[in-house]
Amino acid sequence: MICFGCWLEILPVAAAAAIVSVLLAYAYCTRHYGHWAALGVPHTKPTPLLGHFAGPTLGRESGTVTVDTLYRRFVGHRYFGVYQLRHPMLVLRDPVLVHSVLATEFASFHDRVMNRTSFEHDGLFNSLVNLRGDRWKAVRAKLSPTFTVAKLKAMFASLHVCTGQLVDKLLLLTSDGQGIINVSDISSKFTIDTIGRCAFGINCNTLFDSNTEYQRAGQAVFTPTLKSSVLNFMRLIDLGWLVDLLRLRNMPDLVYEFYSNLFQDTMELRKSEKEDRNDFISILIKLRNDEKKNNSQVELFAEDVLASNAFIFFAAGFETTASTMSYCLYELALNQDIQVELRKQIEHTLNENKGIITYDMIKDMKYLDMVLNETLRMHPPGPGLLRVCTKKFKIPDSDITLDIGMKVLIPTYSLHHDPVYYPNPEVFDPLRFTEDNKALRPNGTFLPFGDGPRICIGLRFALMEAKTGLAEIISKFEILPCNDTKIPIKLNPRSILLTPKEPICLLFKRIK
Ligand code: HEM
Ligand SMILES: *[C@@H]1O[C@H](CO)[C@@H](O)[C@H](O)[C@H]1NC(C)=O
Ligand SMILES: *[C@@H]1O[C@H](CO)[C@@H](O)[C@H](O)[C@H]1NC(C)=O
Ligand SMILES: *[C@@H]1O[C@H](CO)[C@@H](O)[C@H](O)[C@H]1NC(C)=O
Ligand SMILES: *[C@@H]1O[C@H](CO)[C@@H](O)[C@H](O)[C@H]1NC(C)=O
Ligand SMILES: *[C@@H]1O[C@H](CO)[C@@H](O)[C@H](O)[C@H]1NC(C)=O
Ligand SMILES: *[C@@H]1O[C@H](CO)[C@@H](O)[C@H](O)[C@H]1NC(C)=O
Repeated sequence: MICFGCWLEILPVAAAAAIVSVLLAYAYCTRHYGHWAALGVPHTKPTPLLGHFAGPTLGRESGTVTVDTLYRRFVGHRYFGVYQLRHPMLVLRDPVLVHSVLATEFASFHDRVMNRTSFEHDGLFNSLVNLRGDRWKAVRAKLSPTFTVAKLKAMFASLHVCTGQLVDKLLLLTSDGQGIINVSDISSKFTIDTIGRCAFGINCNTLFDSNTEYQRAGQAVFTPTLKSSVLNFMRLIDLGWLVDLLRLRNMPDLVYEFYSNLFQDTMELRKSEKEDRNDFISILIKLRNDEKKNNSQVELFAEDVLASNAFIFFAAGFETTASTMSYCLYELALNQDIQVELRKQIEHTLNENKGIITYDMIKDMKYLDMVLNETLRMHPPGPGLLRVCTKKFKIPDSDITLDIGMKVLIPTYSLHHDPVYYPNPEVFDPLRFTEDNKALRPNGTFLPFGDGPRICIGLRFALMEAKTGLAEIISKFEILPCNDTKIPIKLNPRSILLTPKEPICLLFKRIK
């Protein structure tokens, strides 16, 4: 029944309540927004609640672009402040400061995530990437031997099988002498097969099998879903405890099932094998057995820590390396003179070695190294580095002291595109990486793998893999742009990595 009189009576009360809630909500959302002004740190005005990240939060713009726009605005400053939703975060511009945060002052910045943004029941988030303090240190020390030079050399035979399959696949797709190749797709299949074979001793066979499970499970890690966005949003507005209480997990269930099965199956398979493969999985198995033998007080290598590190070696390893290879082929297609020069050097080295690529040869290909680094400069797959202040830190030559818990962002992409360090930053020029030119740049201006004790653990493996794959491709195919090539590349606003919005497609022509 509609009562015309009574709602008029409650209207003032309802209106007052509404106004009060709006004011309270506004106060809540903007509570910390005075932080940078009080410290005298340069900043721009934030949007209530969303801070400076309205674009990325709403999926409209890549976070890399958002940060880069601000970076350019604060030319001449050593740092500036932003608000990540409600909370302040310091963005560094000065390479000297960058280098101290990553390397020399590591004791004050040894973590990547805060302890209140926890992933208590998210089994796959107990890996090196998220571990903090002493636990991180202990696990990192145990996993570091995975990619020593001796181990990489031992892996080369497995890598060779995968590059062989890559070439076979490309030959199949260019059976008429040429063909348009979905480079993003082929690269990610190649890197999945490689990490699977080299680190896990399994044959994923994604290049030839139509099974796309590996690819889907891998890409799901870096592609936010509505659920993961909501959970991360809750963590950022200090509701992380609720996420833990409700035992919520970031990724779709299929991803947890997939990796858990992958890990269990691999471990089972190992039990039946006599020979020690001496790879990543056998390191994990030894760690667990040692710990059981030692009767350690603190359990570092519980099943979930092992499984989540197995997961991160898989997940962090393939999409990053694949996108590096794709971007490299893209730049080579657009810069034919560089492609010709590179092919000349690869063929020269190959001819000296009867056409077979070895580990030492790859190490000796200087120009390939420069081409790859220039690719990583222009297109760093990890566009930014994050650190949390773990011990009070006074910024030298300033009155500012960072408190425990303050987030610090190092804008890798923006530093890599800063004309002060890289004149004409949008020009692809491998000669930036000659010894002479490198000596002109300070530390902290080339960070595709991060720096300091938390630098990427897979760096050497990734470079070896990408170089070997590229050397095989360049020596056998001429790469050209085609109608399907999107120039310039647009960034995917919905990925954490610096990935293209649309897959990179290029024309491959067989040589000979
Ligand atoms: C071209 C390929 C790759 C790129 C561009 C890349 C980039 C990065 C970056 C930027 C970081 C953060 C470093 C920092 O915070 O200072 C990182 C960390 C990490 N990466 Fe990579 N990565 C690549 C390949 C790999 C591979 C192949 C693996 C494993 C097999 C791997 C495993 C990891 C792990 C476990 C960490 C966390 C290290 C720690 O916190 O101790 N990455 N990577
Ligand atoms: C989180 O950090 C606070 C402040 O540093 C500390 O008091 C608390 O014990 C930490 N909690 C955990 C679970 O590490
Ligand atoms: C390229 O491969 C991806 C899968 O990795 C697929 O989603 C996409 O549709 C492909 N694009 C073209 C143009 O073939
Ligand atoms: C177990 O003890 C040995 C000898 O003390 C040590 O070298 C090893 O690192 C320990 N392993 C673990 C997993 O703690
Ligand atoms: C390229 O980058 C890698 C990794 O950062 C480094 O080890 C190597 O020395 C660099 N090479 C050149 C020529 O700059
Ligand atoms: C750059 O960093 C490295 C390693 O921390 C150090 O050895 C070197 O002296 C630094 N170079 C400059 C110019 O500061
Ligand atoms: C590329 O596009 C142009 C113009 O749209 C067309 O004339 C040409 O035939 C196309 N080339 C191929 C190989 O599809």
